[in-house]
Amino acid sequence: MAGIVADGVSMRIDILTLFPQMFDGPFSESIIKRAQQRGLVNIVLHNIRDYAHDQHGTVDDYSYGGGPGMILKPEPIFEAVEAIKREVALGHLPLILLSPQGRLFNQKVAQELAHHRHFVLLCGHYEGVDERVREHLADDEISIGDYVLSGGELAAMVVVDAVVRLLPGALGSEMSLNEESHAKGLLEYPQYTHPRVYRGWSVPEVLLSGDHGKVAQWRRRQAILRTLERRPDLLKETVLSEEEKALMEKEGGSNRGY
Ligand code: ADE
Repeated sequence: MAGIVADGVSMRIDILTLFPQMFDGPFSESIIKRAQQRGLVNIVLHNIRDYAHDQHGTVDDYSYGGGPGMILKPEPIFEAVEAIKREVALGHLPLILLSPQGRLFNQKVAQELAHHRHFVLLCGHYEGVDERVREHLADDEISIGDYVLSGGELAAMVVVDAVVRLLPGALGSEMSLNEESHAKGLLEYPQYTHPRVYRGWSVPEVLLSGDHGKVAQWRRRQAILRTLERRPDLLKETVLSEEEKALMEKEGGSNRGY
C-alpha cells in the first residue's frame, strides 16, 4: 500500500452535482460512513445550482446549432471549482468529469486516485456539459462502463466507493485488500464458511486440512483457473510463475490469445 495517502492524513473529495441528495444513502452506510467518521476522507458535496447566475437557478441551456436535450452551462461549473480552490488555497486541483466518453474505470484507476490527497468529481447531466468544461477545466474523464446513465452521480458513487476502501484503515483488515478480486490481476478464489456440509454439498477437503501451504496453493490455482474461464483478458497483465503458465496452457490458455 506504499504511496497511498498515509494513515491519519485525510483525503478530500469534492463532488459537483445537481442532485446532492442522491448521495445521502450510499455515503451514510458501511465503509464510506466509517471512513468519514474515522477522518480518513472528507467528502464535500456542492450543488451546481448554487452557482447559477440568475434567480431561477438556471444551470443548463439549448445546444448551439440545434439538437435535442439541454447542455450544462460552463459558468456555474467553473465558478464552483474556483470557489473550492479559493477555500483550500490550492493552485491545481485535479478535476475529473464523469461521462460515458471517459477512460474506463477499473481497479488500477481506483488505485491511481487513492494516491491523490484531493480531487473533484463533476457529475454531468442532461445531454452533456459545455465542451469548454472538458477542454479548459477537466484534467481527466472517467466512464464506469459502456452504458449510459442518466447522470454522473451513480458513477461518482462507484468511484468514491472503490477509492475510499483502498485508504489504509478503511477496511477491517488490510489483508482483505491483497486477496480480493482484481488486486493481483486475478479473480478471487472460491470461499466457504460453516456449515461444513450444506444440503449434501461439502467444503473442499483441502480447506479443512489445516495445511496453510496447501490451502494457499489451492486458492492460487483456483483463482487462475477461474480467471482463465471467466476473464482471460485480465491474465495479460498478471504475473505468473512458469508452473502457473504451464497450468494455463494445459487448461486451454494458448487458444485465448495471451
Ligand atoms: N454518465 C452517464 N453515463 C456514465 C457512465 N457510463 N460513466 C460515467 N458517467 C456517466
